Amino acid sequence: MIYFIMAMEAEARPFIKRLQLSEDLMFNLRLPMRRLKGKYCGIDISVIINGKDKKFNLDLIGTQAATIATQQAIERQYPNLIISAGTAGAFAGKGADVGDIYLSYPHVAFHDRRVPISGWNEMGIGSFPVYDTRKMAQELGFKLGIVTTGDSLDMSPTDAAMIETIGGEVKDMEAAAVAWVASLYQIPMFCIKSVTDLVDSTHHATHEQFARNLETSVEKLTDAMITVVEYLAKHSSDYC
Ligand code: ADE
Repeated sequence: MIYFIMAMEAEARPFIKRLQLSEDLMFNLRLPMRRLKGKYCGIDISVIINGKDKKFNLDLIGTQAATIATQQAIERQYPNLIISAGTAGAFAGKGADVGDIYLSYPHVAFHDRRVPISGWNEMGIGSFPVYDTRKMAQELGFKLGIVTTGDSLDMSPTDAAMIETIGGEVKDMEAAAVAWVASLYQIPMFCIKSVTDLVDSTHHATHEQFARNLETSVEKLTDAMITVVEYLAKHSSDYC
């Protein structure tokens, strides 16, 4: 059983459609999280979506909802593998382009936690090791990189410096939260991230790139998620 933890409905919709996943009431009805499930290549697949904010009717992006979604889903049913899937920012200066697919390796971390006291600082950043995606990335033609997570779409100079220190190549808003929960339960986890925006662009604002490239990046994300499931079905019996 694989859990794909996803923040935005628009990111998940094409995958849900292609695999013909159907709604399954898994969460406490007070929670906004949703689960859609089905089977592909003999593997039980669930997409967990964070759900929408009641007041704004917008997808609950960010680390809080991702944490609850992951923890609650695990408590209801243990998966063999967790994949944080979605769109992300990346760096032209590090060779990224819009539409690139990155698999996380060797770890994911938080880039917006600053506690300048020895020990607390390292704990805040996290550095959660992920499933070894190196062979998969090579065979499927995906890039590899450290994914870093914060709760803002833009990148402040302080965040930029932290990402540089961590060696981050991909910037998102959920991965490290999902990874932290997965680490508590000792469930293997990795990320599939499709690049919507180049955060080091001096010409185009991140949010404008994101809006412009969302649809095509999600198409690529969907293809990548399906390819990854096919790869796992072929190479391992651990997930059936
Ligand atoms: N998701 C898509 N683009 C992003 C960015 N630049 N930062 C964080 N999350 C993102």
